[in-house]
Amino acid sequence: MNVTVTGASGYLGASVLRQLVESGHNVVALARHKPARLLAPVRWVLGDARDMDLLGALEGSDAVVHLIGIIREIPQQGITFEKMHVGVTERLLTAMQAAKVSRLIHMSALGTRPGAVAQYHRTKWRAEQLIASMSDIAATILRPSLIFGGDPPFFKMLGDLVKLPGVPVPGDGSTLFQPVARDDIAILIEKLLTDENSAGVTLEIGGPERFRLTQLMDFMAAKNGRRPPPKIHLPLALVGAVAKLSAVIPVPVTPDQLAMLTEANVTDDIRWHDWVPHPVPFSSWNLK
Ligand SMILES: NC(=O)c1ccc[n+]([C@@H]2O[C@H](COP(=O)([O-])OP(=O)(O)OC[C@H]3O[C@@H](n4cnc5c(N)ncnc54)[C@H](OP(=O)(O)O)[C@@H]3O)[C@@H](O)[C@H]2O)c1
Repeated sequence: MNVTVTGASGYLGASVLRQLVESGHNVVALARHKPARLLAPVRWVLGDARDMDLLGALEGSDAVVHLIGIIREIPQQGITFEKMHVGVTERLLTAMQAAKVSRLIHMSALGTRPGAVAQYHRTKWRAEQLIASMSDIAATILRPSLIFGGDPPFFKMLGDLVKLPGVPVPGDGSTLFQPVARDDIAILIEKLLTDENSAGVTLEIGGPERFRLTQLMDFMAAKNGRRPPPKIHLPLALVGAVAKLSAVIPVPVTPDQLAMLTEANVTDDIRWHDWVPHPVPFSSWNLK
């Protein structure tokens, strides 16, 4: 199959490219930059998805895996959730229709729903709605919880935090997460591409174990050979006030990120096990 992958240079993209190439697909990889370490042999098409020629990039494709997404806005560079999640998805769908490419695997996120607290999730929802409105696009939508494996930015940040003498925790740190392995998602994507029965399906994806935020911190400390760090529980109102400053000065957390750190990110949906029957548990993750 000829597959175009957007967001191919990112954290998840690395695993998806490897899985697709290993499974014998021809891959066109879209991003603004080529990654420094090029492992999988793919054809790179470089450009900004907000204005690049997506139609040209899709020429000869049978399917698209759409991974582009952001976790933090940079409004002064025109990088907003609205533009990156809704605008870029709309451009991609238009290009797919013009190129007569109908199969799409779209990466959304767990927590995506109408009226979600975080703008991240609200714009992911709008993108999902756009896709659902296109009768000629056969899409499968994936909504994963936190992804682990390799060098994930979120867990790397936790790993840095736990080196502090006291770790700041928003609120009581009891928010539940259900981390899922990056390679399992890559395997799932490859299997879905060739399974037309999954068109029109939205899958929530969580790993086999659930952890509180503070447990994830302790896990990262243990992985770094450290004892569970003392926690400094900060009132949510205080963290929220600091987060609001992110509009003017660099602070570690934005209001959107805070909303996501304080809202359970778990699911009972196990339909994805039809394609990946034995997902890797987070507790077996070996940091290299
Ligand atoms: N990681 C997680 O835990 C997690 C959990 C749930 C859902 N997701 C979703 O999964 C998807 C992939 O996540 P990830 O962790 O791999 O993200 P990532 O590492 O930040 O990768 C994002 C990708 O998007 C590309 N990109 C960003 N802006 C672009 C632009 N203007 N034009 C073209 N390409 C652009 C980046 O490439 P360049 O910078 O080279 O352009 C990169 O390849 C996202 O949609 C994310 O919301 C991730």
